[in-house]
This record gives sequence, C-alpha cells and structure tokens, in this order.
Amino acid sequence: MITAEEADELTRVSPGTPTGAFLRRFWLPFLPSDAVAPGGEPFPVRLMGEDLIAFRREDGAVGLVDTACAHRRAPLIYARNEGCGLRCVYHGWQFDVTGQCTDMPAEPETSRFKQHIRIKAYPVRERNGVLWTYMGEGDPPELPELEWNLVPEENVHVSFRVQEADWLSSYEGEIDSAHAPILHGRLDKTSKRSNTMAARSGRPVFDVVQQDFGISIGARRPTQEEGELYWRVNHFMMPFYTLVPPKGSEWAELTGHAWVPIDDTHTLCVGFTYLPDRPLNERMVDVFTNGYRGRETGHPSRLAFDDTVPHNVPYWRFISKYRHDTNYLFDYELQRETYFSGLPGLWVQDSGTQSGATHLAPRSHEHLTSSDAGLVVARQAMRDCVEAYRTDGELPTIVTDPSLYRVRAVAALLKDGVPWTESLDGFIRRAGGEPLGYEVP
Ligand code: FES
Ligand SMILES: [Fe+2]
Repeated sequence: MITAEEADELTRVSPGTPTGAFLRRFWLPFLPSDAVAPGGEPFPVRLMGEDLIAFRREDGAVGLVDTACAHRRAPLIYARNEGCGLRCVYHGWQFDVTGQCTDMPAEPETSRFKQHIRIKAYPVRERNGVLWTYMGEGDPPELPELEWNLVPEENVHVSFRVQEADWLSSYEGEIDSAHAPILHGRLDKTSKRSNTMAARSGRPVFDVVQQDFGISIGARRPTQEEGELYWRVNHFMMPFYTLVPPKGSEWAELTGHAWVPIDDTHTLCVGFTYLPDRPLNERMVDVFTNGYRGRETGHPSRLAFDDTVPHNVPYWRFISKYRHDTNYLFDYELQRETYFSGLPGLWVQDSGTQSGATHLAPRSHEHLTSSDAGLVVARQAMRDCVEAYRTDGELPTIVTDPSLYRVRAVAALLKDGVPWTESLDGFIRRAGGEPLGYEVP
C-alpha cells in the first residue's frame, strides 16, 4: 500500500510534477462544445494547473491558448475573437488557434518579428458535443473509445461542474461504492432509493481485479434468496474515468465520470448518463436539467450554478452554489427528517464529502478499511504507472490502444460460488452501442 504522502503526491499535477507529466499523455475532456460559440466570447479554462483561454473562430475551429499575451502579458480573456484568432485589446497583436502571432498592428509593415512569436497552444478535438485537448509530449494518440462519447447525442446527458477537491479524492468517491446506500440514503423509507437492491441487502464484500484498462471492483451483497448474490461491478479506467453499473428500472442507464484535474485542489467533474442503444427518456433529461422538486439529482441542474461569478474566473459557468463558502447549503433540519446527510441532492452529497480531505484533513489522518480495498489498489496502480513513466518513459497499453476503453459496468444476480469475472466478462467487454444483453436486477 502506498503511503499517505505518496497518495498526496498523486494530486500534484502542475507542469514539472511526475503525476502531471503522466496525466498529460492522455486526452482530457475539458469543455462542452456549446461553451464556445463561433466568433463568441472566449472562455477561461484552467487545466493541470495551467491557465488557458478557449475560443471558437467564425469558421468553427477551436483554440486553447495561453491566458497571457506574448507582448506585455495582457490577459487574453478580453481579446477580440475576430478573423483568424484572438486579438489582444492592449496593442492589437493577434494569435491563431496554433498560438502563432499573425498581426502586430503597431509595428512597421515591413517587420517580420511576428513570425517568431508564438504563445502556448494545445490541440483540440471535438466529438459528440465534447471538446478534448492533449497537453502532453509527443504526438497525441487517438481519442479514447469511451461509449458515452461515441453514442448519438440524444442517447447521452453530459454535465460539467467544478468541485473543490483534488482529482484523486474525487475519483475515489466513485470507486468506493460502499458509501452509496449510506450517504445517499433517505429517512423516509418509501423512497425508491431506500428500496434499491444495494440498500436492502446489507454490507458489501469487495473483490478487486486488475484489468488492461485499469481496475474492476466487484461488490457482492447477499439477497433475500438463499444462495444468491447481488453483484455490482464498477470500473476505474486509466487515468481518471469511473463507470457505475445500472440499477433495475425501466431505464437502466449507465453512468460515470471523468475526473479531470483543474489544479491540485480543484476538479472538473464531467458526468455522463447514457443508454447505449436508444435516446434517453425526456423526463430523465428534464430532471437532470431542472432538478427534482427543487433538489439536485445525479447531474448539476441549470439552477445549481452561480450566475454572479465574474467571467474572468476559470470555468465560471460551471461553478455551483454548493461550495465551502456556502456550506454546501447544508440543512440540519433536512438531516433530521429527510436526507441522511442533510446535503441537498445526490451530487451535492458526493461533492460535499469528497472535498473533505483537501480542506479539513490530510490523507495521513485516514484509516482505510476493507471497503476501501478498491481505492487502495487503484492508488497503487496509479503510483506504479506514474513511476514507470518517470523512470523509463513507459506508458500503459491503453494509451496506444483506445479500443480498451470499450467496457461497461454491470449489475447482476449470480448463484453463490459462480465467478463474476468469467460470467460477466461478455457484458463488460461490450460497448459499441448494442443493447445491454441482460436483465438489470
Ligand atoms: S500586451 Fe497584448 S498586444 Fe501588447
Ligand atoms: Fe455517491
């Protein structure tokens, strides 16, 4: 098991850090396509501890460039988005999507100085409503073949929000499925959630398996049937993706996150819910977008965001009202009567608890137990990968074989003694838009 200090080191992502160098070898989903309109307002981004500006030219090309002008460092958040790129409002220098300076209006016409000036710029790709960037050394690999970003846009709901927690605490929150029936529990027993299979059937036992895509964590719980087990198999996929299995309902949707580091203490939570083979139910999309009876659900609703955040703050549009300085709108009365946690809504419960480690207590204060088996293995695997890259430049196969991302999380009832790894593998390695192929319990 790695030490608390080594785990803390995994949260440091700025340029020059071992973890930062490793994570930069992967594509990062960093913005929804509609955050930058053609010729529209540039958008401030912070990724891996670097401040950047995203913008879309009139012709549709998207740039992701340094936040500071190469002349005298004026902020390009105020730049004019015109013609081939961003024009600094201080002295009018212009930069295209590759960062190349294309105009210096105050210089003599004969000057060729602009040809030698370039600002930092990262390549951007766009697929099914999501913008991706690659910040690493060398040529970028192919985009990861994640099913949620390959299915038609009407099959998927993708949301973005900023979380005040390091990326490791954030993704570990979803690896750890033991929290779900507790943190997300309700006191009114008639609620659907109190009645789920996981909530009814007691303490889970975990089985962690290393895979070519990362780690699978099988959680088994006894059911009311003698000799039967309820399995939920979550996946952690390199470097920061989580996949959560469906729950038994008419709409057995697949969910998960990309936990993208903004900096050492903030994470961009890219949440997805999708059906591989059909459009999402309109009612479900309405609940995600507008909340349910004034509460937040699995995705931040449009009402969750703070519209008073100034537009020069990185990710201003995705900063919610549920933060440390608002006490996450925690409600003690709600805790006594309705929600076990008193935190108002599903993702708010995750966010409020995942951000604890950063602000309140270092990892050396942790006491990990059997239900943390998944995250112990995941931390070790991440540490091993970072070290292999640091010492030998070695990368895991998934970087060069993006088809390894074609997996799904599964939930199933199996007879006691039947190995889940073999019996469920056919449903796990199945992520090309086809139906689930089994009945979700
Ligand atoms: S600082 Fe940008 S053009 Fe002078
Ligand atoms: Fe949760």
